[in-house]
Amino acid sequence: MPEKSIIEQTLLDLGATTPDKVASLFADVRQRFDEQVARHSNDPETWRVFLVQWTGRKSGALTQITDNWLKPASPELKKVVGAELNKLKAHVEASLEEKRKEVEAQAEQSSAARDAIDLSLPGVERALGTRHLIRQTFEELQRIFLSIGFSVVEGPEIETPYYNFEALNIPEYHPARDNMDTFYIEGARQGHLLRTHTSPMQIRTMEKQPPPVRIVVPGKVYRRDNPDATHGYMFHQIEGLAVDTDITFCDFKGTVDYFAREFLGPKTKTRLRPSYFPFTEPSAEVDATCHVCGGSGCRVCKQSGWIELFGAGMVDPAVYGFVKYDAERLSGFAFGMGVDRLAMLKYGVTELPVLFQNDVRFLRQFP
Ligand code: PHE
Repeated sequence: MPEKSIIEQTLLDLGATTPDKVASLFADVRQRFDEQVARHSNDPETWRVFLVQWTGRKSGALTQITDNWLKPASPELKKVVGAELNKLKAHVEASLEEKRKEVEAQAEQSSAARDAIDLSLPGVERALGTRHLIRQTFEELQRIFLSIGFSVVEGPEIETPYYNFEALNIPEYHPARDNMDTFYIEGARQGHLLRTHTSPMQIRTMEKQPPPVRIVVPGKVYRRDNPDATHGYMFHQIEGLAVDTDITFCDFKGTVDYFAREFLGPKTKTRLRPSYFPFTEPSAEVDATCHVCGGSGCRVCKQSGWIELFGAGMVDPAVYGFVKYDAERLSGFAFGMGVDRLAMLKYGVTELPVLFQNDVRFLRQFP
């Protein structure tokens, strides 16, 4: 745009009293216009502003020249000014029309460039997830038991006291409830709670189907534990139950051995230590020879050569009473493994919380 000073003043102010001087003023304006058009980048946004500056009806340069040069001009000069102004207008309009085509072409080109698909660019790579260590361990445990005829069933995490305790031979006053203190659902009519173990599924399964039974039950369980390096309010178990007319303690021990060898390696040996659970009789803690030192003693097994695997036992006949199974004819064994514990043992994880913090630096170690 020409400096305001020129087109804001009258011809008289500018001392343009002759046709020559008028012509040279118009030539100035035209030259400025040409320079600005030439310099313009063809950007559509600044183009609109530029148009208004020159041809805007209210205060564009052409309007200002009409108002300040043509209208107040002396009668002698008016004709010359009019003629010059018409020439300038024609020139400005023609140039702008030319330029408009370039601006439009450019706008089209850049939007086409925006929309174009460049097939040579690399694609968006989506990181493939992996199965969590706990999931991997569950799958491994299930594979072992599936291979010897067990099937997998799942059950509810919200249980009634009947399934979680009573039917497992844990009456209300029984001290065994103490170390299974749990979370009760507020306002639940039947005193619903978060299951403290997967054992309720022993009852639910036997209620539903006649013997024989061979199941494992993977799932989450909850206890009111204070969180530390090896405890949380939630952990994972896999329950096992086998009931039939001819299951003996030898079957129990043989299954435990098979499991230990599959899970920890073919050289693994097991031992049973007497234990107590209200729903098994006799009850045992199953130990295995340490998979790190092979039994000679190391830091992992605290120099004992043995590591504790899980609790188990022969199904207490009292339990059959709750599910209307014939305790005279039937026998079986059950076990309950802490899956997080087994995963930590096997993979050398020393802190339970890292299993649930989902830090990829941990997770990526178990692809
Ligand atoms: N339910 C027991 C627990 O959580 C484990 C167990 C299951 C023991 C089955 C014996 C038989 O501690």
